[in-house]
Amino acid sequence: MADDNTRISETEIAVHWHEEEYYSPPESFIQQANFRDADALRKFELDNFPDYFAEYGHLLQWDRPWDQVFDGSNPPFWKWFVGGKLNASVNCIDRHLAKNRNKTAFYFIPERPEEPKQVVTYQDLFVRVNEFAALLRDLGVKQGDRVTIHLPMVVELPVAMLACARLGAIHSVVFGGFSGQACADRIVDSESDVLITMDGYYRGGKWLSHKDKADIAVDKAKEAGHIVKHVLVFERHPGTYTSNAPLVAGRDILVNDVIQQYRGRRVEPVSMRAEDPLFLMYTSGSTGKPKGVQHSTGGYLSYATATSKNILDIQPEDVYWCMADIGWITGHSYIVYGPLSLGASSVIYEGVPSYPDANRPFSIAEELGVNIFHTSPTAIRSLRMAQNIAPQNYQYHFKLMVTVGEPIEPDVWRWYYHVIGRDEAVIVDTWWQTETGGFLCSTVPALDKMKPGSAGPGIPGIHPVIYDDEGHEIAAGSGRGGNICIRNPWHGALQTIWKDPNRFVSTYYGKYCKNPESKDWHDWPYMAGDGAMLASDGYFRILGRIDDVINVAGHRLGTKEIESAVLKLDDVAEAAVIAAHDDMKGTVPELYVSLQPGVVPSDELSARIVAAIVTEIGPIARPRKVWIVPDLPKTRSGKIMRRILASISNNKEIGDVTTLANPEVVDTIHQMVRP
Ligand code: WTA
Repeated sequence: MADDNTRISETEIAVHWHEEEYYSPPESFIQQANFRDADALRKFELDNFPDYFAEYGHLLQWDRPWDQVFDGSNPPFWKWFVGGKLNASVNCIDRHLAKNRNKTAFYFIPERPEEPKQVVTYQDLFVRVNEFAALLRDLGVKQGDRVTIHLPMVVELPVAMLACARLGAIHSVVFGGFSGQACADRIVDSESDVLITMDGYYRGGKWLSHKDKADIAVDKAKEAGHIVKHVLVFERHPGTYTSNAPLVAGRDILVNDVIQQYRGRRVEPVSMRAEDPLFLMYTSGSTGKPKGVQHSTGGYLSYATATSKNILDIQPEDVYWCMADIGWITGHSYIVYGPLSLGASSVIYEGVPSYPDANRPFSIAEELGVNIFHTSPTAIRSLRMAQNIAPQNYQYHFKLMVTVGEPIEPDVWRWYYHVIGRDEAVIVDTWWQTETGGFLCSTVPALDKMKPGSAGPGIPGIHPVIYDDEGHEIAAGSGRGGNICIRNPWHGALQTIWKDPNRFVSTYYGKYCKNPESKDWHDWPYMAGDGAMLASDGYFRILGRIDDVINVAGHRLGTKEIESAVLKLDDVAEAAVIAAHDDMKGTVPELYVSLQPGVVPSDELSARIVAAIVTEIGPIARPRKVWIVPDLPKTRSGKIMRRILASISNNKEIGDVTTLANPEVVDTIHQMVRP
């Protein structure tokens, strides 16, 4: 029965039986799934583009219906749901009030187990978002303004995002773990007048003072010529301000103090055009400067909603927990916008999953009845390596589990399936990016078999293809890797890079555009920047980044960003960051530096180099190892050969080095790293 419902035929499975391994969704899952009609998949064939996306648009409540699903007249600046108007906060909150005002929108679980959980209903969320929006409006925030939000994993974070959305202001959330300097860079680029922060929070059993970073951010922004007018400070324990950083008179506002004056205030939601930007999210690319990925209101929101429904299979009775941070795109789409738009109940957990011990995720799942569980391969690996985990001692049942952010090794996948999922949860391995707004490749959980280590086919409406470097399509089953691209536009995709449309066009469309003059979307495939392989069953296996981006524990970092932080030190001559294999985090940065003439290597210098990275970016970019070497391997034209350094770090075959300008240095480095 299950087999009749899947997209892979038995013959294909038989052919690959020895090399491939498939798992079927249980019948009980199929029976209840949102997307279980295999015939419905046909609607999403490329011939029916773009009309099939209307179905996704209809998941939202519109103030004014759209006139046109897709306008492709100005490639690659696609427009979606043209003429339609809506407000994202209305879709995420107001429209659920009539029937579900008392339903839980969020469970907030503080890191310290002794602190009680908070239950935030849709009505509570409505009240908090309106009051906070009223405060923002009084501070002058209006439609189109940018607001930077630098908060940890607390309910105040979605409240602030949705308050911006209500006013039509564009939020730019900066991951809480980023440094004050990194926050400043994003404030300056987005020209935000308002910064929203918190005094501190709990993480790893410690109280972290956080507001200090806001002070650094505002000072550094000022040095770069941008004045932040207001800093709004939430208190982790309302009424008690706890931070090393004193409040700055005339600039800092304690939200808890002033919000009292806003009790009962309501803000009329601003009706936005579908194409108006909803938010910016800065992400790493090939240069030292993070790029502001711009997402639309109607296109993005309907894509996050549809994928939450079809792929995460979120339903009204479910309790859903995504362990990502809202400061990354996964949290935007799959903690805030998708689940709220569906009226779901979901979990916001403040801290690290292993606090106070590695069983915390199971105890939270047991307490709240979590049945959809969303996490990353790094978290799964660390659970697997943890001592004393005992999921069998906890009462929980997951119907569906998600893995996202990095490739998952088949072995780790199987452990996730058997031990955490108890052989009863369907797994979706979802491949996507900050730029794509939502999932691109994944199995449809009730219709496709799972294959460990493979994300799966394009999701309904998405048509991926693999090109070689010359732009020739690589056939399914050829065993060759290439660049994964998407043939068709879709409405979750970024609209542009903030203030840098040229970079937008060249980064994603430069390499494979068939004709820059063409007005036909067929000529404009989207290039993701990942290597991938396509098996003959139509499943994509993602191999990892092909550009200067490295993926640490599912967090995206630019090697150039790390290198520029290091090059700010006068003692350093050259720096190269490579991705080194790590059993837990997938890959981690390792740094190779050469020093200015006369500078002597020392532990003190290495420590200063690491400190520079933490200050400029944050602790997540901390290199595992700093190798101070006499020189870096270079081509005759002076290009640093990072590939060779990566081979040394990862103990791989180095290959031919004779064409280098300085081949002898490879031996020296090899001796140092692998004596
Ligand atoms: C990687 C995170 C393998 C990929 C949603 C991509 C994955 C980058 C997967 C984007 C997956 C994401 N399997 N690799 N299921 N999901 N990636 O922008 O290299 O933080 O390009 O978005 O993560 O990272 P980003």
